Amino acid sequence: MTPIPPRDTDIAPIAAGSFPEGFLWGAATSSYQIEGGVHLDGRGPSIWDTFCRVPGAIVDGSDGSVAVSHRSRMPHDVALMARLGIGAYRFSIAWPRVQPLGSGQVSASGLDFYSQLVDQLLTAGIVPVATLYHWDLPQALEDRGGWPARDTAKRFGDYAEIVGSVLGDRVARWSTVNEPWCSAMLGYGSGVHAPGRTEPAAAVAAAHHLLLAHGFGVDALRATVSAPEPEIGITLNPYPVVPVGDEEADHDAARRVDGIANRIWYDSVLRGSYPDDVLDDIGAVSDLDHIHDGDLAQIARPIDMMGLNYYRRHHVRHLPGASASPSPWPGSPDVEVVDPGRPVTDLLWAIEPDGLVDAVVALHRDYDPPPLYVHENGAAFADVVAPDGRVHDADRVEFLDGHVRACAEAIAAGVDLRGYFAWSFLDNFEWAEGYRKRFGIVHVDYETQERTPKDSALWYSELIRRQTGG
Ligand code: FCB
Repeated sequence: MTPIPPRDTDIAPIAAGSFPEGFLWGAATSSYQIEGGVHLDGRGPSIWDTFCRVPGAIVDGSDGSVAVSHRSRMPHDVALMARLGIGAYRFSIAWPRVQPLGSGQVSASGLDFYSQLVDQLLTAGIVPVATLYHWDLPQALEDRGGWPARDTAKRFGDYAEIVGSVLGDRVARWSTVNEPWCSAMLGYGSGVHAPGRTEPAAAVAAAHHLLLAHGFGVDALRATVSAPEPEIGITLNPYPVVPVGDEEADHDAARRVDGIANRIWYDSVLRGSYPDDVLDDIGAVSDLDHIHDGDLAQIARPIDMMGLNYYRRHHVRHLPGASASPSPWPGSPDVEVVDPGRPVTDLLWAIEPDGLVDAVVALHRDYDPPPLYVHENGAAFADVVAPDGRVHDADRVEFLDGHVRACAEAIAAGVDLRGYFAWSFLDNFEWAEGYRKRFGIVHVDYETQERTPKDSALWYSELIRRQTGG
């Protein structure tokens, strides 16, 4: 295998020794965003296949039916990861590829695809990190109520057991659910993600059932994973929240957003309770009948790690009537998200690496969490292939460098942070944004499916080589 030669950049290398021994240097993707092959393996439709057909739901009118053809190109993609020296790969498993209807019948070839992926990774010396749910709910389960229905959490437990039984001899590291805030609040609250429902009470019930699914998933994985030193947990997306304005109402807006973005997940998973103030806030839209005795004990099953996906902070202020459409903060339609006036990515997300330090230091200080991983971090920029055939994404190199330095800072402050995963290994289907926003460290030509490592991939490769003494 030919390693890819390093490239010169203007950025000073991060000091060797800034990261503990065994720190995982990874890259991440998710099934619907890269796989394509939606009819292979007898795969059933997911809520994203359905949502993409809704006129106007996806900015460029696209869908994930082809995506970057990873279902067919997987061996080639793993070989490219190996050439770049990537140490760990966080991927997700498509529930409808394993169980086309979300319950009952299992697709042997669907499971076999993931089994082969794991074997190829292990052969290449890359640590597999599996996520069971990254948003592609089988449509058949949505037809029976989706995440607002309690039964979906039970079905997830069965699915976790099926996957754990097949991959658990080789995969030690597992995340149950990716960013449940997005699934619940964007999927059922603001409706900008699948299944596109705008029902605040349903969003609140979905959040609870996603957490319950996590708890059932932890039990199922504990019972089936036999690989040594299992690390089972969940992946959340913290947003440090900053009040804009000095009014008491602005601080209260920040408290409410922090409650739904961060504390509701941390408190339930790590302490087995929901914060009282958040229950009061969401009580405005829900009778909370979906919370049954014993649920919080199930949600708070001990975990071995927590994954955090960090992209940006939220700067917020109180503004009555701010949400023209239903809010992703149920019970808080009067909160405006404000642009802090810092440089932004192609998605207009403000670039604030210090927010990553805030997020992990606050979690470490307030919750005594298990070991932490940054499971996703990255940026969309308008990349172009230059005449020399390369993608000179200096802005992404700077972004990633700043955030890797933030990880080093958090570690120096005492946080037990054990890995960093760049989002994303490949350009891909960026949900409601379609293919226009490119997050990959590897460029994909969507016509030819040709992969070209961007300068950021070469920079990352060199960083890993230096940090691991390779
Ligand atoms: C995260 C998602 C991931 C990707 C990035 C940009 O919220 O987990 O799939 O879309 O954002």
